Amino acid sequence: KVEILKDKNALIERSLSLVVTKIQQAIESRGKCTIALAGGNTPKPLYEALAKQSFPWDKIEVFWGDERYVSADHLDSNQLMARQAWLSKVDFPETNIHPMSTTAGEPDLDAQRHEAELQQFFRLAPGEFPHFDLILLGIGDDGHTASLFPQTDALTVTDRLVTVGNKQGEPRLTFTVPLLNHARCIVFIVSGENKRPALREIFAPQGDEMMYPARLIQPEGELWWLLDHSAGAEFDGN
Ligand code: 6PG
Repeated sequence: KVEILKDKNALIERSLSLVVTKIQQAIESRGKCTIALAGGNTPKPLYEALAKQSFPWDKIEVFWGDERYVSADHLDSNQLMARQAWLSKVDFPETNIHPMSTTAGEPDLDAQRHEAELQQFFRLAPGEFPHFDLILLGIGDDGHTASLFPQTDALTVTDRLVTVGNKQGEPRLTFTVPLLNHARCIVFIVSGENKRPALREIFAPQGDEMMYPARLIQPEGELWWLLDHSAGAEFDGN
């Protein structure tokens, strides 16, 4: 499902209504909602809007689809952004917040640590992938999503939940393609003229998944693309 919103504010409002609906549906049908957050700048106003909602916060379990390899108090931290924009503003139980740790000194070790945390939380058998109720994703202007960057090894990891991404030599932690694709619902939220060329390649009937990793995201569940006009005008009517 592709929706083009007239501007950034309309995009955030629509994102909020969709996210609220998905959280409510998950809580109604399964008693809780597991959500993995996107980082970067685009979703920040959405998180600020979520902080104004009234939810049974103890029924929401928050994870991140990727994380920069920095401390949790570093300005680049996706965890810090979501805490400041949303989680610290409401009475969110700390036990419901599941950040990707970045303290083992080695990205691989932290990836393994978070993998183990996910396996324990979802009580997974070896090789089993959990179904997140909702995963929010953005798109980089190079077509990356989460921290799955073009032409990196992370794109080909299929036997794990979490792996190490690589942004021009800078390590990231990221959910793997199969973990993302097991989601019940994925929502891409994309804003800005600079994303248009990547979207063109992502939506093209044929294309190179290694160059445009978002093409690999074909979830079992629902796939939503919420685009503002500057990013998606030419895709209207899909
Ligand atoms: C991150 C995000 C990343 C982001 C895109 C878009 O860690 O930065 O998870 O995948 O969604 O880079 O970022 P903007 O929203 O800032 O354009």
